[in-house]
Amino acid sequence: MALILGIESSCDDSAAAVFDTEKQRIIAYHTYSQQTHSEYGGVVPEIASRSHLEKIGPVVALTLQQAGCTINDINGIAVTSKPGLAGSLLVGLCYAKGMAWARNIPLVAINHLEGHIFSSFLNADGSVRTSLPFPHICLTVSGGHTALYRVDDFGKFTIIGQTRDDAAGEAFDKIAKLIGFGYPGGATIERLAAEMHFEDFFHYPRTKHTPGDFSFSFSGLKTAVLYDLAKRGHIDLETGLRTATLTAEVQKQVASSLLVCIGDVFVKMVTRILDAHRDIKALTFVGGVACNKYLRARLEAVASNRGISLHISPPAFCTDNGAMIAFVGSYRLEQGEKATLNVDIF
Ligand code: KG4
Ligand code: ZN
Repeated sequence: MALILGIESSCDDSAAAVFDTEKQRIIAYHTYSQQTHSEYGGVVPEIASRSHLEKIGPVVALTLQQAGCTINDINGIAVTSKPGLAGSLLVGLCYAKGMAWARNIPLVAINHLEGHIFSSFLNADGSVRTSLPFPHICLTVSGGHTALYRVDDFGKFTIIGQTRDDAAGEAFDKIAKLIGFGYPGGATIERLAAEMHFEDFFHYPRTKHTPGDFSFSFSGLKTAVLYDLAKRGHIDLETGLRTATLTAEVQKQVASSLLVCIGDVFVKMVTRILDAHRDIKALTFVGGVACNKYLRARLEAVASNRGISLHISPPAFCTDNGAMIAFVGSYRLEQGEKATLNVDIF
């Protein structure tokens, strides 16, 4: 039996999990999500790394306790080494290195995005999904990333397209802030849009693509929403302040139009990619934005039209978590990856 401890601290979540390679399941996981960034409208890197310093130890201790083991029972440590906020990454990486060195435990560094890509293999009870076939297409959408991958096997994936500027989660967060809500804004946008039954009121621009171009762009969308609100008199462009006419009703209309717009962009892009990759057997949707039920339903419709399955990780494994890192670490060590303490965040 081997127990792999996963540690994640790339942004504003301090997270850990234990994967049992014999049972092939996550037996414990814990995430501490920092709430302090809400008032700033985004993650403040210095605050994030200081919070990780305080929380990473207790989070790992709690996870080991829940797993019914101690650090002496751990056979491998997997830790996120990149990409992410430098200070945040350093806390998790140094913590993991220290533990690995002190206890002589093999350490493997995991790319955060590989973690998200393979999070789709985790069921809500922590077991590994056996029904997800290769090759599949993975749509990864979070606050920091929006990308599409072709996934051919565990650890074997190639990027097909990614955002040229902002991530879709970032667009949700920034536009939510623009209309008066705190960070993170994605779930708020979804709640408001549901109240308007996902109607498209303002017809925000959709990215146009030339054949073979599978990139996303969301910064123009943010500007389009800003200018549309200004044109309607809801924002004063000179001061950047919201006017009294930006009512709760308008906020909901913006949220609904935005969500439909991003849904349309994803549906179109995934459809184009499935046209270009005829051997694809499944679609996965991962990252924090994959918590969104409206977007899940839109992608479900695409998948069922094509006769392929859609696999989405449970919400706890969509947002940043230690389980996906422990899982990737488990197959990396099994594939014979050499453990080393000589890893950095770059
Ligand atoms: O994966 P994640 O926890 O962190 C990053 O790696 O960025 O994703 C966080 C992002 C935020 O932008 C947040 O607004 C978005 O996920 N998010 C959502 C929803 N829940 C979280 N976006 C849309 N709808 C949701 N229900
Ligand atoms: Zn992430």
